[in-house]
Amino acid sequence: MSSELTFRGHETQQVNDEYSPKPNKPWLSEIRPIRYLLREQRLVFVLIGIAIATLFFTLAPSSSTTSPASSSFSTVRYEPHPISYFEHESESKTTPYQHHTAAVHSFGKVPLGLKRKGLRIVVTGGAGFVGSHLVDRLIERGDSVIVVDNFFTGRKENVMHHFGNPRFELIRHDVVEPLLLEVDQIYHLACPASPTNVVGTLNMLGLAKRIGARFLLTSTSEVYGDPLQHPQKETYWGNVNPIGVRSCYDEGKRTAETLTMDYHRGAEVEVRIARIFNTYGPRMCLDDGRVVSNFVAQALRKEPLTVYGDGKQTRSFQYVSDLVEGLMRLMEGEHVGPFNLGNPGEFTMLELAKVVQETIDPEAKIEYRPNTEDDPHKRKPDITKAKEQLGWEPKVDLHTGLPLMVSDFRQRIFGDHKEGGTVA
Ligand SMILES: NC(=O)c1ccc[n+]([C@@H]2O[C@H](COP(=O)([O-])OP(=O)(O)OC[C@H]3O[C@@H](n4cnc5c(N)ncnc54)[C@H](O)[C@@H]3O)[C@@H](O)[C@H]2O)c1
Repeated sequence: MSSELTFRGHETQQVNDEYSPKPNKPWLSEIRPIRYLLREQRLVFVLIGIAIATLFFTLAPSSSTTSPASSSFSTVRYEPHPISYFEHESESKTTPYQHHTAAVHSFGKVPLGLKRKGLRIVVTGGAGFVGSHLVDRLIERGDSVIVVDNFFTGRKENVMHHFGNPRFELIRHDVVEPLLLEVDQIYHLACPASPTNVVGTLNMLGLAKRIGARFLLTSTSEVYGDPLQHPQKETYWGNVNPIGVRSCYDEGKRTAETLTMDYHRGAEVEVRIARIFNTYGPRMCLDDGRVVSNFVAQALRKEPLTVYGDGKQTRSFQYVSDLVEGLMRLMEGEHVGPFNLGNPGEFTMLELAKVVQETIDPEAKIEYRPNTEDDPHKRKPDITKAKEQLGWEPKVDLHTGLPLMVSDFRQRIFGDHKEGGTVA
């Protein structure tokens, strides 16, 4: 049986015993490396190598930008894992109120010349007064924003101008129910004055922990209660009546602060706490019972301005654009807080009523009513810490800010053309 494997090479090959040197082929020696690369797909590996090297050199932190913020932030860092946010030191020294256009994504520094990558940010309560102004600034900065709001006190009209923008989403949702979203930062503003405040905060902290997002709590000056220290520093623990009529809100926010710090210490969640003092501006709820909106709405409607007690209790009033700037600086900065964010300019209720009269109607009457229980006598923030560590202080005074709010209220009360308003 003949075998298929029988060698037959000798039948086809002509053996030439004579040695003859091969002719010199310079072109062959040049294409040999190329043929080598093409064989067994080595070219693919070379290309992958080049791609990895390019990626590495693009994303690697440049030595010239190492911790630029450290010199401008002098106090202790609380974070278990400090991250590499840019603070444009020279920029913030010369123009402290400029937008953080150069703020950087939390997961790596952007080399010079490359555009800042937008963050994905959740703003709970983003359809409310403060939240909607914050959303405007974040969108303007180039971030993608998801507003989570149940419209308890917020209004769609406050964010309607972003509808159709692919970087904006609005979800009708109650933060009391858990929610899963993939984001880099959570600004937690949603807060009804009720115990659900605590449940909502717990849910948002849980989300921040799960997805590794940075969490900012908007707490309040109410945590100081009826303060025995004046002005109030962040180190003051407050004087709150735990069973008073206002305690649901006050204690709710105090508990929210406690939970926030527990998640920070126990679960290493990156947190920020802002203690907000009285803020006013366009898009405020018309009838939310806050003194500025009360006075403005009453004066516009030709009703008497209701002053509770003798009107000598003091408050400080911060324009909303100043607050938003402070919140963003806090979120992007390296300090946990708490930070007082408020305007230290102090007004008695009667002085405020006078400014409202001057701005809207000098003939407006004042009507005195008995004071509400546990109404704090004095309220004025000490903002030294925010000045030093965030490079922040308010710049809009009451005489400048109030007319901006009045024109927005006028439009809404009398049904004039445009809803909402813009930050000065
Ligand atoms: N404006 C101030 O003077 C001031 C002072 C201190 C603290 N703060 C805090 O700042 C934050 C924003 O305040 P604001 O003045 O914009 O109030 P706001 O009432 O205008 O905004 C709150 C928003 O949260 C939404 N919301 C409430 N409960 C919710 C829930 N369970 N689920 C989802 N959304 C919900 C509301 O619909 C609203 O849009 C609040 O946390 C508030 O406590 C504000």
